[in-house]
Amino acid sequence: MFKDIVLKTRSYRRFYEDAAISLETLRELVDLARLSASARNMQPLKYVLCRNQETNAAIFSTLAWAGYLTDWPGPVEGERPSGYIVVLGDKSLSQSLGVDHGIAMQSILLGATEKGLGGCMIGSIQRERLRQILAIPERYEILNVVALGKPKETVVLDPVGPDGDIKYWRDDAAVHHVPKRALEDIIVGES
Ligand SMILES: Cc1cc2nc3c(=O)[nH]c(=O)nc-3n(C[C@H](O)[C@H](O)[C@H](O)COP(=O)(O)O)c2cc1C
Repeated sequence: MFKDIVLKTRSYRRFYEDAAISLETLRELVDLARLSASARNMQPLKYVLCRNQETNAAIFSTLAWAGYLTDWPGPVEGERPSGYIVVLGDKSLSQSLGVDHGIAMQSILLGATEKGLGGCMIGSIQRERLRQILAIPERYEILNVVALGKPKETVVLDPVGPDGDIKYWRDDAAVHHVPKRALEDIIVGES
């Protein structure tokens, strides 16, 4: 069922780093983004793919992980992503990117799930450092990074409790819990 894929498509932040991702796989995932919706069909998104260890390490150094887990600085060596897709906006094609990159990243992550992979959309990026590391020309706006790998953690969805707290948290067994609001709390009108 499609809902099972959506349920499985969580934000994963710990991976079997030695499970390499091929360039072909990354290309197939970008192809899903290519086939997705785009405002005015401008298709302004461009991508940098990375799966080699040295560049992976450099990209990793520009990213911030799990802001709510204040005592966790991010995945340790050996549990880091084995690949990245950097999502760029080509300003020569469109100045207003709308929500294209969100749609593209979700297509990428849904496709990753189907392939037995997982990942995390990252918005907290040292963009100027990343631009230098990857020699990204100024005409491209750095929008997001999708980190990818073979997930090494369990993520469960919980209902948001009566206190309304939406912060994700980790339990003693390092299971990652993500509170989700109830359907009745997000539908504000029906007719
Ligand atoms: C646009 C966007 C940016 C995000 N940026 C980050 C980030 O910088 N670092 C991070 O660890 N997670 C990031 N996330 C992941 C969210 O924290 C995650 O989606 C949220 O905790 C819900 O978990 P779920 O994706 O498993 O439902 C981002 C998610 C989105 C949609």
